[in-house]
Amino acid sequence: MSIIETDHQYVANTYKRFPVALVRGKGAKAWDENGKEYIDLGSGIAVNIFGYGDEKWKQAVTAQLDALPHSSNLYHTEPCGKLAKMLCERTGMKKVFFANSGAEANECAVKAARKYAYDKYGDESHSTVITLKNSFHGRTLGMLSATGQDHFHRFFGPFTPGFVYAEANNLSDVKRLSEENGCCAVMVEMVQGEGGVMPLNYGFVKGIWQLCKEKDMLFIVDEVQTGNGRSGRLFSYMNFERQPDIVTTAKGLGGGLPIGACLLGEKAENTLGYGDHGSTFGGNPAVCAGAISILERIDDALLQGVRERSAFIVDKLNGAKGLKSISGMGLMLGLETERSAGEIAGACLARGVLVLTAKAKVRLLPPLTIGFEELEKAVSILREEIERV
Ligand SMILES: Cc1ncc(COP(=O)(O)O)c(C=O)c1O
Repeated sequence: MSIIETDHQYVANTYKRFPVALVRGKGAKAWDENGKEYIDLGSGIAVNIFGYGDEKWKQAVTAQLDALPHSSNLYHTEPCGKLAKMLCERTGMKKVFFANSGAEANECAVKAARKYAYDKYGDESHSTVITLKNSFHGRTLGMLSATGQDHFHRFFGPFTPGFVYAEANNLSDVKRLSEENGCCAVMVEMVQGEGGVMPLNYGFVKGIWQLCKEKDMLFIVDEVQTGNGRSGRLFSYMNFERQPDIVTTAKGLGGGLPIGACLLGEKAENTLGYGDHGSTFGGNPAVCAGAISILERIDDALLQGVRERSAFIVDKLNGAKGLKSISGMGLMLGLETERSAGEIAGACLARGVLVLTAKAKVRLLPPLTIGFEELEKAVSILREEIERV
């Protein structure tokens, strides 16, 4: 049986995969089982921020695999503490809980916010979390509830109660919900990724931050997709000059191994105590050693490069026939096109360029260090396919 046939027969049918089996990757390039080369503008959905086969990450992980691949959270290990310290020093947050995915990082954020309110009120009267319509926060039952899209609220009920959904960029709607419900937090993505690469307005974010302060709700920012340099800043909230109370991240931080991190600010740093939360693999030393090697290279020069590559892509695509709009931030871009996004992704794949889709848009999440020559080649092909209306 071929790779694809085996997959079709034995792997659960939850993914509509492209008809390609990737076997190797280096930098921004990947090769399939037939030796066909692709330029990847998707980075494993914002994971491979330094591309495939990143040597420094590989060395950091393998050295830790040799020393101590796994212990348990009953013991201290150096990489876990070191990564938490780096994250706190780079963000002003105070403590970090490590998990294995974005959804789990968000679960931790909601637990921390609910416990914060429980500690204050002595009951569950302020357990509701306001999220936004069109958001995406993950696939656990809790995070399906947190996700503000009806499409995700089917088949698997009963869903976890305690989430209400406000219109994005409509502060009065957030205020209304905060008055109608006993709320402990507002949770947002600064750019709604799966929802079609839709950035929030600066004034809206400022307003939420202010409202959270006034009502003592926690301001949670889901940086699972936007984090780790992708927006042109270390975290996208840094473009909005407002400090969240909780930040969650995952994807790019792990460099290709599973990680989730929930960063707790001053208000919530001691909210979760012994036994309130936990994870078998969260904070795994090999994963954390790899993440340290990723985080220490997300410096000003790299972030400047992200902004330059973003401007380069926008410049190359601007004015393309059949391109209606470009949205996003840094190297997280959504293209609204006349031709269907799925058709463009398929046509690009056939011509050796991997792009993603989000709702009706073509979505680009290239490696943050992709070379300009490769970028030029890939974006030219993409432009031709957009123009083939
Ligand atoms: C904003 C956001 N939050 C949460 C998640 C869920 O992350 P994971 O798939 O690692 O659980 C995603 C995944 O795409 C995401 O984009």
